[in-house]
Parts: sequence; C-alpha cells; structure tokens
Amino acid sequence: MKALARLDDMLGHLEARHRRRVVAPRQGVDFASNDYLGLTGSAFLKEAALRVLARDVPLGAGGSRLLRGNHPEHEALEAEAAAFFGAQAALFMGGGFQANQAIFSTLPAAGDLVAYDALVHASAHEGFRLGRADLRSFAHNDVEAARQTIADWRASGGAGQVWIAVESVYSMEGDLAPLAAFDRLAQAEEAVLVVDEAHATGVFGPSGRGLAHGLQAEVLSLHTCGKGLGVSGGLVCGAKVFIDSLVSRARPFIFATAPAPFTAALLREVLAHLAATPALVAQAQARIAFAHDQARLHRIDRAGLHSQIIPVILGGDAQVMAWADRLRGQGFDLRGIRPPTVARGTARLRISVTGNVTPAEIAALFETLAAYQKEAA
Ligand SMILES: Cc1ncc(COP(=O)(O)O)c(C=O)c1O
Repeated sequence: MKALARLDDMLGHLEARHRRRVVAPRQGVDFASNDYLGLTGSAFLKEAALRVLARDVPLGAGGSRLLRGNHPEHEALEAEAAAFFGAQAALFMGGGFQANQAIFSTLPAAGDLVAYDALVHASAHEGFRLGRADLRSFAHNDVEAARQTIADWRASGGAGQVWIAVESVYSMEGDLAPLAAFDRLAQAEEAVLVVDEAHATGVFGPSGRGLAHGLQAEVLSLHTCGKGLGVSGGLVCGAKVFIDSLVSRARPFIFATAPAPFTAALLREVLAHLAATPALVAQAQARIAFAHDQARLHRIDRAGLHSQIIPVILGGDAQVMAWADRLRGQGFDLRGIRPPTVARGTARLRISVTGNVTPAEIAALFETLAAYQKEAA
C-alpha cells in the first residue's frame, strides 16, 4: 500500500539524519523529566490519591464537561486554582497542549494581532495555525522587538486587539522572559499578555504560583499540571470572560472527554500542599542553585544558567544522541533534543534538575559531562 511505503520511507530518511524519534525506557537517575518537585512518585501524592479514592471521586469523567462529564471536583479545582494563581477565573483542561491550542484558536479574532516570542512552544503554534488573527513573531525575549512588531503592524493598518504570547521559563533554553518589561509593554499597548507558565508553575513565584503572579496588564496564564505539579492537565487562568468564551467556543474543550474528576481532586490536594509547604519551592530552588554552582565549576554553563532547565548545546544531532546514550549507560537519564524541536545547529542535551535527584547525583553528572567535554576538546 502506498501510504505504508511512503511512511516507511520517511522514517528511513529521519533515521539516516539522526532525527527519528522513538520512545525509550526510563534508564538511570531522572535528569530528563519535568517532575521538578519530585511529586509524581511521592508518598504525598500516593496518600492524596487514597484520600480521594476514599471520598468516592469517579476515576473517569464519562463525557465532555458540557455533557455529563462535569463534576463538582472540576469546579472546586477551578475556583481554588483561580484563587491560588490570583486570577478571576480558571478552566481545567486535559493538558497544556490542548489548552494552548484552545487559547490561540479561540480568543484572538480576525483583525487582531498575535505577537509571539520566536521560541514559544509547539502547542501555541498549533493554536496560531487554527486561529484567524494576524501572526508576527519577535526575537526571543526582546521586548523592544515586540514593541516594534506591534508598531509595524499598526502602521500597516492593523487596528484590532493585540495579544502578546510568551513563556515565563522557556522549555528548551531554560531562560526567563523579562516579564516586568512585557507587562509594561502590554499595559502601554492595551494588549493581552498570554504567559505560558508550564515550566514555572510549582518552581517559581510565591509557593510556586509562577512568575506572572502580580503583573498589572490583562494577563491570561497557563499552568500545566503534569510538570511541577506532578499530575496532568492544564489550568487556564484569567478574566472570567476569557474563561466563559473558552467554554462556549474552544473546540478542544467542547469536543473532548473531560479530565477525570480524580485528577482534578488530586490537583486540589497538590495546590493545597504547595500553599501549606513553602519548603517545597525553597528546596527546588536550592537544588537549582547547587546545580548552577556545579555547572559553573565544570564550565558547563555556556548556554546560561537561569532555571532548572540547563541546556548543553553541542550542535550536531549525532553527537547529542551519542552523548545522551552514553550518559544513560552511565546511569544518568538524559535525552537529546534535536531540530525541529530546536533550531538547526543547536541540538542539545536538556538537563532538567528534577526533584528526583540528590546533590551527589547532580555533582556526578556535571563531573561526567566535564570529562566528555575534555575528551572532545
Ligand atoms: C511551554 C510548554 N507549554 C505547553 C506544554 C504542553 O503541556 P502538556 O504537557 O501539559 O500538554 C509544554 C509541554 O511540553 C510546554 O513545554
């Protein structure tokens, strides 16, 4: 059959260029996940799950939220998340990917502008593609370039609402957006500032509330629940009219089975745990600071040290995959990140300082990388 042969051919081409993606088993100490607080396998989460089960919360939703899938646990989570993240309202969705797709395909209208950072996540692009607004990217983390992009669009006749899309912590660079400056820009332009907090939630801000907490502009934030929060889902937080519009118009919300009420109930436990246990964030920050010290000590800091995500940019796809394989063989679970996920020539190891590693393991990883670097020099 033609389709089978064509796809097989395509996979062969990817393989030849070291670009084929395959799922691989977990192997070694976790420097690869987004489990930044170490919650996924924690005693806390297991006990929380037992508490939720004891309350007889359903394990599946059974339908879309707009049909019979809605459950008081969803609504309670949304009310608590809105309060926790400092927003008027919140909407719980199955994942961050779905949430970004919903936000950008639904809220910006024809005649609006979405000005987006060149490095925003694939899921935002998925929403852009499906939406009807004008799209312009600006150079990564460059507020002045964003201002100019908006000015150029206005000069060419653009008159609608401006939306500025950024991430607070970038998933593959690990650097932070200059949010205070974007906040001022959004206020000056009467723009909506859409902040994807996927890699900040649970790690940055007071009790892990993220970095958009307390901004003054009209902010719509996305807190993914499968990374720092250790479960799964996506919480969109912002003005009630944004949330109500998503409920009425967002296809990924309307035409999808709701996340399990069980998941919503677990997340309520996680948010309460974060609020009650400031040590969780303090410990994550201490772990990150220690990793930065080790990276500096061993000169693995060329791509910058900003967060729990530390990229080691090697450039060549084959080299990255070889180093990742070798590291896994030595007990460190790391994955190579290649184009098109990152720009050509910037293939990298993405070190993630998760909550599942000890200081000794962090030190050992950087020592090992320093040895590889010496060998390659
Ligand atoms: C910046 C960013 N936004 C959104 C997502 C998607 O979130 P989820 O994994 O919950 O679908 C990711 C996850 O890879 C991400 O890195």
